[in-house]
Amino acid sequence: MFFHPLSALSVLASGILNCLATTPREPRWDDVRTKHAWGAVPEHWETLGHPAAGTTIDLHIALQPRRKNAVVDALYEVSFPRSPKYGAHLSREQLADIIAPHPHTLTLVNSWLKHHGVHPSSVSRSHGGGWLTVADVSMSHANNILSASYQLYRHAKTNETVIRTISYGLPVELHSHVKTVAPTTYFSSPRMLRHTPRLSHRARTMAAPTKAASVDLGRGLSRRDDIDFITPSFLRWIYNTEGYVPAATDRNKLGIKGLIGDSPSPKDLKRFMTKYRTDGVKTATYDVVLINGGRYNPKTPSVEGNLDMQYAQAMALPTPHTYYSTGGGLGLDPYLRWANFMLGLEDNELPQTISASYGGFEESVPLDFAESTCDLYAQLGARGVSLLFSTGDDGVGKDCTDTSGNVRFRTMFPASCPWVTSVGGTMGNPEVVASLSGGGFSNIYSRPAYQDGAVPTYLENLGGQYDGLYNASGRGIPDIAAQAHRCAFVYRGQDGTVDGTSCAVPIAAGVVSLLNDYRLSTGKPPLGFLNYWLYDYGIADLGLNDITSGSNPGCNTDGFSASTGWDPVTGLGTLDFAELEKMLDGL
Ligand SMILES: *[C@@H]1O[C@H](CO)[C@@H](O)[C@H](O)[C@H]1NC(C)=O
Ligand SMILES: *[C@@H]1O[C@H](CO)[C@@H](O)[C@H](O)[C@H]1NC(C)=O
Repeated sequence: MFFHPLSALSVLASGILNCLATTPREPRWDDVRTKHAWGAVPEHWETLGHPAAGTTIDLHIALQPRRKNAVVDALYEVSFPRSPKYGAHLSREQLADIIAPHPHTLTLVNSWLKHHGVHPSSVSRSHGGGWLTVADVSMSHANNILSASYQLYRHAKTNETVIRTISYGLPVELHSHVKTVAPTTYFSSPRMLRHTPRLSHRARTMAAPTKAASVDLGRGLSRRDDIDFITPSFLRWIYNTEGYVPAATDRNKLGIKGLIGDSPSPKDLKRFMTKYRTDGVKTATYDVVLINGGRYNPKTPSVEGNLDMQYAQAMALPTPHTYYSTGGGLGLDPYLRWANFMLGLEDNELPQTISASYGGFEESVPLDFAESTCDLYAQLGARGVSLLFSTGDDGVGKDCTDTSGNVRFRTMFPASCPWVTSVGGTMGNPEVVASLSGGGFSNIYSRPAYQDGAVPTYLENLGGQYDGLYNASGRGIPDIAAQAHRCAFVYRGQDGTVDGTSCAVPIAAGVVSLLNDYRLSTGKPPLGFLNYWLYDYGIADLGLNDITSGSNPGCNTDGFSASTGWDPVTGLGTLDFAELEKMLDGL
């Protein structure tokens, strides 16, 4: 044992380990406790054995901030409409200050890494120091540091390979200082996070549509059955954005989160605009930012990339768009790097609105990882970003039996993170539920306070129906909805339609982006995290179209039914831009 003056001093100051203050010592690095472990290799993954000799990964270590709830508290202060600090979003520097770990945490983690022979030059810190990255760690070294057993795994459906371990541990002393280490037990790959919007019409059969929802329909004149497919003019009419002319396009930006392999095509975008929004033929362009080895292949676009770009643009034109393509790779995580990259952007580079049509089943996400990721989304909200995620396309779920044989409704992460706005699906006019709409209750996040006025009423009306299939104390999903059925789009030069909440998210994000434009053009800060505002008293009653008909079947049940007020299929409803715009004047 040797005396370690610095850590002893900060131990005293923080009071975390005050029982040790009188006997300072080098922590027992060999006293390791499991941080997270799966009972078996996660479903659909199979081991391919040890990675090739010489393979290295970067380890990302999330550190606890000095004050545990600092980010969520700050998020509340700047996002709750009646808070005195409403709209006073944090700058990059202010946020860095809030998330900075305690010096003792840093000392401890650094001394642990040093104990394992990690050279300080291979350790870098994210802005604010919330994350440490240890670069180029060999497999045997990573196994040693984390008491892990890293292997190469292949996903049986997509063939993607990743390097992960089914368990990892940390010295007991570090558990209260380290939130998570990645990549470890979260088995993810870009392709498995895709929601795979369904092509509802093969492109060729779309050549001569008979009835388009957009064609010559006055408000209220169309019936649901008449709609073969939906188009931007229908959406701009039904969500009441037609009369708005964006006026802050020098500052306002809309970001689209893409994963590797999902590129939009500028040619398809142009054809889409030529068909459906002629004033956008020239203005519909976008920047591309490659993150983490992301790629952009406009010549081989994907359904998802095209759909996201075409609908975000169709709603928010001529607002500038940026496509953030995030890479994958053996040891890379598609969530963390993206969020940390975005948080590293300067204040004037961050888009005010982001559309993200991705997610995976909640039960596949380790709690420590989910919390660390969700915390990054809270940070984006605190910086003034409205972040929207899709809820998935399987209603309450298919394949609902877990490994122990229990049937449970399934929910998606990150949609279940309380610090994002989750978007479900509707269809037709008048709007009803699109039955594919993912929705339900989180098993990892308890109900956030902002839902306390909305969700319990639904649960009461549900009575005992579905008891045991869902978690009544969980965060309710979604928050809002938008059209998700038969979205006309262009793919590789051909017309088609698509079903999926992947269509709903860019539509909703486009409307939110226009609201942000209005805020900025009237000299106000952007909306940032939306949910405190959306769930605030009266907003939903006037500014959202309540969807009350339909349900989201799955797991051999009818699923949840839409109802008056909030429901776990369409949330509070769909956005009415003109009404919400009026309400913004009172904010
Ligand atoms: C995965 O690989 C198998 C055989 O190697 C092949 O038959 C299958 O088509 C591949 N699947 C995908 C989605 O690439
Ligand atoms: C229900 O949700 C809470 C969080 O709200 C969680 O702690 C609990 O484990 C969940 N129960 C089940 C059975 O998943």
